[in-house]
Amino acid sequence: MAHVSRPTVVLMPGDGIGRHVLPEAVRVLDAVGFEADYVEAEIGWDCWVRDGEPLPPATVETLERHRLGLLGAVTSKPEAHARRELAPALRASGVRYRSPILELRRRLGLDLCVRPLRTFPGNPRNFVRRGAETLEEPRIDVVVFRQNTECLYPGVEWTDPPAAVRAGLGTHPRFAPWADVPGRDLAVTVRIVTRDASRRLFHAAFTHAARHGYRSVTVCEKPGVLRETSGMMCEVAEETARAFPEIELHFLNIDAQLLQLTKSPEAFGVIAAGNMFGDIVSDAFAGLVGGMGFAPSANLGPDAAVFEPVHGSAPKYAACDPSIANPLAMILTAALLLDHVGEADRARAVRDAVARVVSRGTCRTFDMAGIRGGPGAVTRGAATTRAMTDAVLACLRTAD
Ligand code: NAI
Ligand code: MG
Repeated sequence: MAHVSRPTVVLMPGDGIGRHVLPEAVRVLDAVGFEADYVEAEIGWDCWVRDGEPLPPATVETLERHRLGLLGAVTSKPEAHARRELAPALRASGVRYRSPILELRRRLGLDLCVRPLRTFPGNPRNFVRRGAETLEEPRIDVVVFRQNTECLYPGVEWTDPPAAVRAGLGTHPRFAPWADVPGRDLAVTVRIVTRDASRRLFHAAFTHAARHGYRSVTVCEKPGVLRETSGMMCEVAEETARAFPEIELHFLNIDAQLLQLTKSPEAFGVIAAGNMFGDIVSDAFAGLVGGMGFAPSANLGPDAAVFEPVHGSAPKYAACDPSIANPLAMILTAALLLDHVGEADRARAVRDAVARVVSRGTCRTFDMAGIRGGPGAVTRGAATTRAMTDAVLACLRTAD
């Protein structure tokens, strides 16, 4: 990607453990010699409670200006909870809660989500496959390309659809079994796929495979059932594949993909999928490589990029002092940001340092060590968030 001279990174700690892990990633970026300016921007639950807007317009403006963001995590809650916690003065205003993450992706056109999921040898949480007389730890190296703005996520949905929608649905012969269901008992979510967004998805997936030495792109959809939406995606995947004759194109239904997960996860390289299946398959692979503490992600659009760990705000651990959250997903996320701004060597240095910390095994956060989380985790032997970052920094300093 383009080398940006002295970029400005918009830091959005967000909520819960997002606030714990984001500053640790910045320490790593500093230590690796990344020259950037930082500005902080608000996002998340406090903004909702105070102003009825979890994604403040000022944050969107700041991101539009600098085009580069690093996000911790945000807390989202169901509508009824959201309304209860809203500032009393705003309750009558009719504002409705919407996930600021989805809104951010929509507003900034971040239509691609990239999630690399790799085994770090030595992590006691790595998936182990048991054969009749064998135990193997498959080396997983998967990059999931997830379409980030379409599919079931745009929020085109109703309980009790309006009459025009019902009438429209009624024109489809397959809707007949539900034609007489009372409105309040009928919920509909629309799955949207476009050729343009699919082209961007598959072009990015194949380009990544070609550049980084992956043999195959596996499309993880369900075209036999979702004949129109998955069908269009598979068609575009085939068109795109023609320009990359050296990369194999495979189609695997989401259910078959999950079955393969524990049989041969090392057989996969780049995986491309729609929003929902991409979300599912990336969490599934994350579970094989150590869980949420090891899953970074990039949200990429034509004009902006926002990097965030896959994990959420883990409210259970938000009040832990010192923090016990594993900062490695956030640190690996910072490495993705470095890749994006043309700092591949620094990105590699960060990943190598993480790999060494994991393989040494002297510093393990609660999730890695299999220790119960919560306030007593440190006395039970878990490393703190800061201690884990310190271990990464020490490995960076001793790099050749
Ligand atoms: P979560 O990812 O916050 O936590 C699930 C579990 O994963 C935690 O209980 C914890 O055991 C583990 N975990 C997550 N991150 C960890 C870390 N860095 N170190 C160690 N363990 C870690 O997901 P959950 O519980 O479903 O959601 C909590 C809140 O986060 C909700 O409000 C949800 O809406 C929000 N969320 C936000 C996301 C985002 O900001 N992109 C993504 C997912 C959830
Ligand atoms: Mg998810």
